[in-house]
Amino acid sequence: MRSFLTGLECRGCCTAVAADRLVGPCPTCGQALLASYDLGGVRGATSPKDWSGRPTGLWRYRELLPVQDAAHIVSLGELATPILRLVPKDPSTGAELWGKDDGRLPTGSFKARGMAVAVSRALELGAASLFVPSAGNAALALSAYAARARVPARVYLPTDTSNMIQEACRTYGAQVVTVPGSISDAGRLAREKEVGRGSFDLSTLREPYRVEGKKTMALEIFDQMGPEDLPDVIVYPTGGGTGIVGMFKGFNELLELGWIDRVPRLMSVQSEGCAPLIRALRNDEPRIVPWDRPWTVAPGLLVPAPFSSERVLEAIRGSKGNGVTVTDDQILCAMGDLARDHGLSVSPEAAAAYAGLGALFAHQMIRSSERVLVYFTGTGLPFRVSELSRDLRSAGPGRPGDR
Ligand SMILES: Cc1ncc(COP(=O)(O)O)c(C=O)c1O
Ligand SMILES: [Zn+2]
Repeated sequence: MRSFLTGLECRGCCTAVAADRLVGPCPTCGQALLASYDLGGVRGATSPKDWSGRPTGLWRYRELLPVQDAAHIVSLGELATPILRLVPKDPSTGAELWGKDDGRLPTGSFKARGMAVAVSRALELGAASLFVPSAGNAALALSAYAARARVPARVYLPTDTSNMIQEACRTYGAQVVTVPGSISDAGRLAREKEVGRGSFDLSTLREPYRVEGKKTMALEIFDQMGPEDLPDVIVYPTGGGTGIVGMFKGFNELLELGWIDRVPRLMSVQSEGCAPLIRALRNDEPRIVPWDRPWTVAPGLLVPAPFSSERVLEAIRGSKGNGVTVTDDQILCAMGDLARDHGLSVSPEAAAAYAGLGALFAHQMIRSSERVLVYFTGTGLPFRVSELSRDLRSAGPGRPGDR
């Protein structure tokens, strides 16, 4: 097994960049760089039939991942996550509903996929320490993978990130810096403070390899469901957008490899209190306008100005997808419904995706009798619905703008 990585490419301005050193965004236009592979080589070296003979988990797809030497893989045992059949609340839609539960991954979210690959690759390319601004889950994942690799990590979190997450990051040995405001403010401060420290920036879409880890969501769905039974639609909670960009990239590589003949439509769900991507979709704009006074109970969706939003919008539109918003009340209701009706404890972000189904059917973005997969990106175990409800009632919309 070997990687068929060939280089990095900016889809914004077509600049090609060598993949043999640590890089951030495109040196020409500042947008996200994405990894390219020799797909002909991949086709000659492997086929999905080989995969079943390999250990389960994301490293099964080594040919389509950037890490060159297996000795550099930093792993916490990322198993393939289950895809569970869900009985729809409203059976009259006729939809066949499935949920993929990434809450089972190390540190309880899909962020483990991105960090497993990005940390492995950053260390392979010589990074001595790492940092990330995060709403919580990416920080947890970086802290754990950095601990596993015995490399120093610093995480920049909005001040009101739950104490439980802050403490968990410290327990892994990461340095925690809290920043007033949103993740965008945390990112700005992180980049200021880190100048000259020689630490590598793992911010969403500002380096090319977290997307590669997220891409394994698409590869794994294909691996588990097969080319015939792929979902028609994947519903995904979107904050910074690496998940959607990664999934779209993964399905497109499978398409180019000739292993699938269609890409599922990617439906983005954001919170009504912070929905820059959905607004750009509705207004037919190529990039987002930063969201003023953002607020939602779902920390991972509180991203007022996603970086390189061109790539995220391109992924949604390129898959013939679309998106909707949900209210915070709908998110909290969905957390309860998923627990009671399906035995699934999911994070507020994941619950948002489930809550979005109503609007997606109502707006005919999903047709009855389609096969629909809702992506449950994180576990609900660290969250108390009563606490989130209290936050919502006492703080409410506009909170960060008031700070
Ligand atoms: C559980 C969860 N779901 C979804 C998201 C949003 O992910 P993305 O940045 O891929 O849009 C996050 C981001 O923090 C998250 O933690
Ligand atoms: Zn560029």
